[in-house]
Amino acid sequence: MTRQNQDKEKISLLFICLGNICRSPAAHAIMQRDVDDAGLTDRFSIDSAGIGPWHVGSLPDRRMRQHGARRGLDVSHIARQFDAGRDFRSFDYIVVMDDDNYRTITKMATTDADRRKVIKMADYLKDHHGAQSVPDPYYGDGADFELALDLIEDGCSHLLQAINGKEDNLAMD
Ligand code: 4NP
Repeated sequence: MTRQNQDKEKISLLFICLGNICRSPAAHAIMQRDVDDAGLTDRFSIDSAGIGPWHVGSLPDRRMRQHGARRGLDVSHIARQFDAGRDFRSFDYIVVMDDDNYRTITKMATTDADRRKVIKMADYLKDHHGAQSVPDPYYGDGADFELALDLIEDGCSHLLQAINGKEDNLAMD
């Protein structure tokens, strides 16, 4: 996990999944909540995007909005597609949900520095032993959406801790 431009004012995080209507907008909302709860709102810039174009301009999947709302989350990002040129330039960390996402996004990186920005949410899943990814709930049922949210809450909380450990001037509550 590396970050260029250490003196840049904000740490920028981009969450990626396939469609940008289930997992990554949920991660976006969860990390924003965690950052806000830690008193770090001014230090972070958070966004999400999808690999595919299918849902650009749409609200998140209704099921993810409903399951998220039960946890007090406002999952309301408007879907957009990943833009390799702009997003590799703009973000410090690009967080993917599964190995397919990882392969697709790292293939679009044109430098080692950009490739190193791409990290897997699964590497921060500390409370779900053996989980290798955040599985796509789109073709699943309510339990799959709950699992996705559980995994993402686990991953975001430990990712924020890891970033905080690297950025010595962040003071978390
Ligand atoms: P997501 O889920 O990647 O978590 O947003 C999906 C949503 C839509 C599709 C695939 C995955 N789709 O093929 O339309």
